[in-house]
Amino acid sequence: MVDWSKIRADFPTLQRKIDGKEIIYLDSACMALKPQQVTDAITYYYTQLGACGGRSIHALARETTDLRNAAREKIAKHINSRSVNEIIWVRNTTEAINLVANSLHFEEGEEIITTNLEHHSGVLPFHKIMKKKNLKLKIVDASDEGLFSLEDFEKAITKKTRLISIVHTSNVSGTTAPLEDIIKLAHDHDALVISDDAQYFPHRKMDVQKSDVDFSAVSMHKALGPTGVGFLYGKEYLLKEMDSFLVGGDTIKDVKYEHGEIIPTYLEPPHKFEAGLQNYAGEIGAGAAIDYLESIGMENIEKHETLLTQKLFNALKDIPGIEIIGPKNVKDRHSLVAFKLQNIDTANDVANYLDSDVDGYKIMIRAGAHCTNPFHYSLGIKPSEGTARASIYLYNTEEEIKILKDALQELDHLIGNV
Ligand code: ALA
Repeated sequence: MVDWSKIRADFPTLQRKIDGKEIIYLDSACMALKPQQVTDAITYYYTQLGACGGRSIHALARETTDLRNAAREKIAKHINSRSVNEIIWVRNTTEAINLVANSLHFEEGEEIITTNLEHHSGVLPFHKIMKKKNLKLKIVDASDEGLFSLEDFEKAITKKTRLISIVHTSNVSGTTAPLEDIIKLAHDHDALVISDDAQYFPHRKMDVQKSDVDFSAVSMHKALGPTGVGFLYGKEYLLKEMDSFLVGGDTIKDVKYEHGEIIPTYLEPPHKFEAGLQNYAGEIGAGAAIDYLESIGMENIEKHETLLTQKLFNALKDIPGIEIIGPKNVKDRHSLVAFKLQNIDTANDVANYLDSDVDGYKIMIRAGAHCTNPFHYSLGIKPSEGTARASIYLYNTEEEIKILKDALQELDHLIGNV
């Protein structure tokens, strides 16, 4: 049994008061708070090491290298990849998707399928290369609730489809795509799949061998880890075939200048993709975040959050002026509820109200279009108006959800919805 109240004590931010008010943090879909264990690991690097990893051979460098290698191994094991060579350190999910868009070999006329529910990062890297490489981008629409029908992918896929880029769990509807069915469909057509796991990875167990996904993109900052570090998982044979993305120091076996020509020989993956001095502190912190998640267990985290998601949804759904974005059946969503309130100009007004002083609390949610403008437009919502979004993680409580509900009811009353 996990003692969830003890877990809160690991998060120093939750012990803070701002202007004398307690914090209720409901913005973990944007950024998860950090447990002490993660900041201790980062501090260890900066106070006890602070050295180059890999390049130098002295004791500090060797320990740095060992710790970052261990962190890579922890990630590989956590997602059940076949080899550590399938894990490439990047800054974030966005960089991981850009890497695939720029490094995969595309033939002229090939198609990429994506959806209207994607975070902008799932679409724009492919849109950017589309014209240069003469590719076609096809969009499959989610329903208004953010659900996909496999049939729509079956209709869109052709012999020319090379890649499907799909958001695994949406950061606005909270819905999870039928990834394994989409992967099977893609593989039956000799196409590949890249899954945006930014919102899936923090909350649920990932198994890349079971799902057979070709690429997965993750940011560690949403999973209790440091900012500025994430990873791309890619099947090793694909990574070997792909071009480099960023090049420079640490990516090469050798560089020669011969007869006025530069002749580089690149290392094997993952190193050929990790150019320049790396984010050692971030990687070591990411390893500590994995340790923390594993110590609780992803199944326990998912179960706890499923219950909290139900409480959150049930708390908000009956507020008179509320319009909930995403599925009406709470079983179809995980860890977040985005919504609009009638008679209020923008979602920012809701977020500002909650962040002011509501009965002694500062309630922190996110407002905006959550980098999903196309989905907002498809619902008839201008990105400038946006939606408010409350999102939970393992440290949230039922009590916090009740306080949010009371605060929103009060606001609803103030703006005349009751
Ligand atoms: N992915 C970020 C969020 O959902 C933008 O808040």
